Amino acid sequence: QSISIIRVPFGLGAGRPGSENGPDSMLKFGLVKKLQGLGYEVEADQCIRLPDGVHSQAGTKMKHFEEVLAVSGQLGEAVYETVAAGHIPLVLGGDHSIAMGSLAGLTRHYSNMGVIWVDAHSDLNTELTSPSGNMHGISLAVGLGLSHIKLRQIVEGAIPLKPENCVIIGARDLDRDEKALIRSTGLTCFTMHEIDRLGIEKVVLEALRIAGNGTDGVHLSFDIDSVDPIEAPGTGTPVRGGLSYREAHLSLELLSESGRITSAEFVEVNPLLDRNNQTSKLAVELIGSLFGSRIL
Ligand code: ARG
Ligand code: MN
Ligand code: MN
Ligand code: MN
Repeated sequence: QSISIIRVPFGLGAGRPGSENGPDSMLKFGLVKKLQGLGYEVEADQCIRLPDGVHSQAGTKMKHFEEVLAVSGQLGEAVYETVAAGHIPLVLGGDHSIAMGSLAGLTRHYSNMGVIWVDAHSDLNTELTSPSGNMHGISLAVGLGLSHIKLRQIVEGAIPLKPENCVIIGARDLDRDEKALIRSTGLTCFTMHEIDRLGIEKVVLEALRIAGNGTDGVHLSFDIDSVDPIEAPGTGTPVRGGLSYREAHLSLELLSESGRITSAEFVEVNPLLDRNNQTSKLAVELIGSLFGSRIL
């Protein structure tokens, strides 16, 4: 199997700068060596950059709207080409707005894809409900076809996700309209409350069942702010009460064991806000667990 790493040094979808340095930081802390050590062939030459001359007008409600769409378009094409060539795409963000691009590229290839969205947030705002105007807060809504922005505008032939195959894990900071959407669309949201009650193992196995039910691919979108800020301080929108170090690893180990994950992205690592590179190093470790690294 071969993994194709796609770097996306783009952070304008977040409210504060720094996540654009995420890809370089994860690579600096040994990601390629780690994956090669696990037996994969690794390509790391793809990098998505904002095309010259793309600037949103100042004063629009959604900040850096044009920049996000331009980067997502480029990323979507790259992800599509990568899966079509038979490689596993591993997208390194960047802020979570880039998920629009990944989802667009992937749903052009997979006609029935499930998604596991590990995040402190649900990213289910739309341009009508976003309290912040930050594009990283709307990417899952775009994926589900709930926004005015459609995946097919990002990549031709892309199709919306089905809510019955989408699962959020780790949520603990939801806006009012996001809660209403979770209820009305019927997607599954395992908040920290369900993780506390059921245990992370049951939650992840159930998530795999839901996202894997009749689907031809399962994408993992992993926002590092799902992990507790004690372990992952280097992120732009930290929320206390998150996944412990072991819960995070166990989640990825279980996803790995299932053999169902066909693509992944790791986003919102912000080296500018980090302490001793703890968060970048954790992200590299967690990606290792997803691709088969084990204690023994
Ligand atoms: N719900 C908030 C918003 O819409 C926060 C979103 C944070 N998203 C993220 N990918 N970190 O602005
Ligand atoms: Mn190749
Ligand atoms: Mn997110
Ligand atoms: Mn988040």
